[in-house]
Amino acid sequence: MASRKILVTGGAGFIGANFVRYTLQERDDWQIVNLDALTYAGNLLNLKDIPVDQQKRHHFVHGDIRDKKLLADLFSRHNFNGVIHFAAESHVDRSITGPMAFVDTNVGGTCELLRAGLAHWQKRKEDAAFRFHHVSTDEVYGSLGEEGSFSEDSPYDPSSPYSASKAASDHFVRAYHRTYGLPVVITNCSNNYGPYQFPEKLIPLMILNVVELQPLPVYGQGKNVRDWLYVLDHCQALLRVFEQGEPGQTYNIGGGQESANIDIVRKICAMVDNRLGRAPGTSEELITFVKDRPGHDFRYAINAAKISRELNWQPAYTFDSALRNTVDWYLNNMEWVKAIRTGEYRNWLELNYKQR
Ligand code: NAD
Ligand code: TYD
Repeated sequence: MASRKILVTGGAGFIGANFVRYTLQERDDWQIVNLDALTYAGNLLNLKDIPVDQQKRHHFVHGDIRDKKLLADLFSRHNFNGVIHFAAESHVDRSITGPMAFVDTNVGGTCELLRAGLAHWQKRKEDAAFRFHHVSTDEVYGSLGEEGSFSEDSPYDPSSPYSASKAASDHFVRAYHRTYGLPVVITNCSNNYGPYQFPEKLIPLMILNVVELQPLPVYGQGKNVRDWLYVLDHCQALLRVFEQGEPGQTYNIGGGQESANIDIVRKICAMVDNRLGRAPGTSEELITFVKDRPGHDFRYAINAAKISRELNWQPAYTFDSALRNTVDWYLNNMEWVKAIRTGEYRNWLELNYKQR
C-alpha cells in the first residue's frame, strides 16, 4: 500500500478522532493533517493517547474549514493524496434551535473545502488514487415506516435542518464530480456509537445519566428505530471506501442492528446497574417520557448490500458486545467526562498541546 498524506477535517470529534487513531495504526506510513475548529464537540483529549511513535505522523491544525486563506495555505504546503471530510455540526436537536450554524459549516464549509480541493487536484491529476471523501448520514433519505431500508438510490427527503444541510452538502460534492470531474466518494452511514462520543447523543447521554441517577429523557414513546453502527466498524468501512471506492459513487454503511430507543435505554440501564453492583431494575425508574422532537424521523435502516458486494465490507461487531464495550469505556473514562462537564477540555489546547 503506497504511503499517503491525507487531510482529515473534524478529526477531534467523535468519529473523526476514532478514524485518525484507527488509520495511524492500520497504515503505518500515512501522514494525517487534522484540521479542526474545536467547537464544543471538538476535543483534543480524544487524541491524547495516540501512541508516541504514531504522533509524528499526526499534525493537528486548529482552524476552520470556512477559512479560505487557511485552506489555500494548507493545500499549497502539503501534497495531499486525498481529503476525508468529517467536520460538521452534527446534532439534530441543536439544528432545531439554531439552524444557521448548520448551513454555515455543513454547506458553506463543505463548499469552501470542495473549492480548495478542486484547485489542488487540478494540478495533480496524475494521482489516480486521489479522493475527496465526504462523510455523510442516512438521515438525508428521510424517514422509513415499519418496513424497508435505504439504498443508495433512495430519494433525498431530509426532515431536520441538520439532515437538510447534509443533503445539500452531498449535492454539492456530487456536483463537483459531475461538473469538474473531482474524484469524490460519499458515504451515508447510520447512527454511530462507541468511545469518545459527545454526551449529547442518545447512547452516551443515557449511560452518563444512569451513572449519575439523573432522569432519562426518552422522546415520545421511545418507539423510534435507529440502525446502530459501532464506530470502529465505521472506520474500517471508511478506509475501505477511501482506498477502493469508485469516483462518483455513493456507499451506504450500516450496522444491521435495528433497535427502538426504549429498548436501548433499558439495555443501558441493565448494563450499568450490573457494572455498578446495583439491584436489577434500579435505573429503569429514571426513564422519563418527554415531549417528542419536532419532525422526529420514525425509523432509519440501511441496506448495505453495495459496500458488501463491491468492497467486501460487513460489520464485525455485534450490538450487545459493542454496547457493553461502550458502557465500560465511559465507566473507565470518567476523567474525560469530567473534563467535558467542567468545560476544562476546551482549555486543553492552551494548557497542553502548544507546549508539546
Ligand atoms: P462531532 O460533532 O463529534 O464532531 C464534529 C467535529 O467537527 C468536531 O471536532 C468539531 O470541532 C469539528 N468542526 C465543526 N465545525 C467545524 C468547522 N467549521 N471547521 C472545522 N472543524 C469543525 O461529529 P461526529 O459524530 O464525529 O460526526 C462526524 C461526521 O459524520 C459529520 O459530518 C456527521 O454529519 C457524520 N455522521 C455522524 C453520525 C453519528 O452518528 N455521529 C452518523 C452519520 C453521519
Ligand atoms: P441522536 O443520538 O440525537 O441521533 P439522531 O437524532 O441523529 O438519530 O438520537 C437518537 C434517537 O434517540 C432519536 O430517535 C432521538 C432519540 N433521543 C431521545 O429519545 N432522547 C434523547 O435525549 C436524545 C438525545 C435522543
